[in-house]
Amino acid sequence: KMRIEERRDNFVRQSLLSDEFLDLIQRNKKPFDLLMCYYECAIMEVETKFKVLNQEHSLEYDRNPIESIKTRVKSYESILKKIRKKDIPITMEAIEENIKDIAGVRVICSFQDDIYALEESFLKQDDIELIERKDYIKNPKPSGYRSLHLIVQVPIFLQNTKKFVNVEVQFRTIAMDFWASLEHKMRYKKDIPESQVKFLQEELYDCAEQSAKLDERMQGIRDVIGWNKNE
Ligand code: GTP
Ligand code: MG
Repeated sequence: KMRIEERRDNFVRQSLLSDEFLDLIQRNKKPFDLLMCYYECAIMEVETKFKVLNQEHSLEYDRNPIESIKTRVKSYESILKKIRKKDIPITMEAIEENIKDIAGVRVICSFQDDIYALEESFLKQDDIELIERKDYIKNPKPSGYRSLHLIVQVPIFLQNTKKFVNVEVQFRTIAMDFWASLEHKMRYKKDIPESQVKFLQEELYDCAEQSAKLDERMQGIRDVIGWNKNE
């Protein structure tokens, strides 16, 4: 994993045009690195919480509700894109305040019910504050996208203070994640022939619907097996 200073230097070096965001970073190297460090720490806190829940569940029911956890800190390029898209003032405070998905944790489960069970256990914890919740499983996006999104604030404990940091948590089933990865790749592919775009959109939407039905059926099988009871 690249160190925070290295990531910053790379970005500064590779950015050809001088711009306000670059200036901000260069003028505030230390505080900016510190801010990014907070996000990395908040990710560690949240990831640990899910690993703990997974461990406990595994001991109790002999089954892991979490298939895998992916984490990322938003790249500087993506932060800059979002600043432009949302017209965010270029100050550290505004970035911290307005971009709530700089720290991202993606929790991938086998079954849909595990998502809501994990969400409940996570939000019950008394150091987690829910800021925003979007349930794209109950209300899928027009693209077909499904996932449960939370923005939470998690405290990180520093030498002398406690700092609250925004983290975006996305819960998905394996099937939802598979779909979203493919759709994401297509979204950023620039050389798709115009004649194919509509077809691909419809095809992807249909795949999302079918894959949601598959998730439901797998869930149904699991319900019959009654996997959560400790026999
Ligand atoms: P932004 O955070 O500015 O993107 O807008 P928002 O706050 O409305 O975000 P939302 O909660 O809808 O989605 C945030 C994240 O979810 C994105 O960064 C993606 O990772 C993911 N996402 C949302 N919609 C889609 C979609 O249609 N396809 C895929 N592949 N991912 C999506
Ligand atoms: Mg968002």
